[in-house]
Amino acid sequence: MNTEILSVDDGIEKAKEILLSGGIVAMPTETVYGLAADGTNPEAVKKIFEVKGRPSDNPLIAHVHNDYDINKLVVVKHDYIYKLIKAFMPGPLTLVMESKGVVCKEAVAGGDTLAVRMPSHRGCQALLRAVNLPLVAPSANLSKHTSPVSAEHVFCDLNGKIPLILDGGRCSGGIESTVLDVTEKVPRILRAGLITKEMIESVAGGCDIAEHKEGDKVRSPGVKYRHYRPKCDTALFDITETDKADALYVAEVKKGRTPYIMCSDDVADKFAGKNLLLLGKSGEEIAYNLYDKLLEGEKKADIIIAVSFGREDGVYLGIMNRLRKSCG
Ligand code: TXA
Ligand code: MG
Repeated sequence: MNTEILSVDDGIEKAKEILLSGGIVAMPTETVYGLAADGTNPEAVKKIFEVKGRPSDNPLIAHVHNDYDINKLVVVKHDYIYKLIKAFMPGPLTLVMESKGVVCKEAVAGGDTLAVRMPSHRGCQALLRAVNLPLVAPSANLSKHTSPVSAEHVFCDLNGKIPLILDGGRCSGGIESTVLDVTEKVPRILRAGLITKEMIESVAGGCDIAEHKEGDKVRSPGVKYRHYRPKCDTALFDITETDKADALYVAEVKKGRTPYIMCSDDVADKFAGKNLLLLGKSGEEIAYNLYDKLLEGEKKADIIIAVSFGREDGVYLGIMNRLRKSCG
């Protein structure tokens, strides 16, 4: 199959045609690129799992446009949910609610809940409006690989496997949406992201974080898999272990290998003269750059030696979750 890349503006009609006839298309969102199918069409949904090599017990997120009435898809049980929608949607927040069954069971791994998200990306909104259907979409990478934040990243993983990639530029967010279970009285974060615990608390009055202990029923199946891995070797050090990161770098060079240090700008001076993948200074910058630098690193490096940031509040919770899975 020939994989075409078209700008969102030029490709919307073609994307619509493919989606309405049961095909799949990669689309930009403000977090990462998604691989979309009509969520009401089981055959189309199955193609997503096949192309990605995704385990069928890991449910998909349904994406809808700004004015889509989500009451058609899910039961909105609690008043605080409307406050969250008003505050953060459209945007990088996904809400898990009881499904009404419009989105097919293949998309939700046979479960009773559906995750719903309204992306803020202009091109994605335009596509969602054009099809006026819930589009289910996981990140547009092969299963376990690092998520794509540009059309080129998608092409590297899915060239020849899908007919069309809509190019909407570099994703402004850089890590996936926050997945929030809102079926109970207090919302609960299943996957941390750019909408932080602190932000949710300030609107909903409370917010828990799901802890995944061994033996627990996993609430968000995606969190149990190895994820986000670049194709090269990786190592992860705490910010207090820059000397160890440095020693590993030196040992790798001695073996004739090419190491790269991946760190925030704040500790870059500790690795002067070395190969660096710099992530920036603020949490937002680090989130924006993380996958892009991992995907740049896998092309250049035999090993990416990552150094963490010394904090896990706010957006750093989501960043550290991705960093541990990709490099830990
Ligand atoms: O930002 C994002 O969320 C991106 C863009 C494309 O929208 N999508 C994304 O999809 O990251 P995916 O499939 O890579 O991750 C979806 C996550 C997984 O951890 C999955 O287990 C969880 O959401 N999830 C989906 N439906 C769920 C449900 N009904 N209950 C609990 N967790 C769910
Ligand atoms: Mg993913």
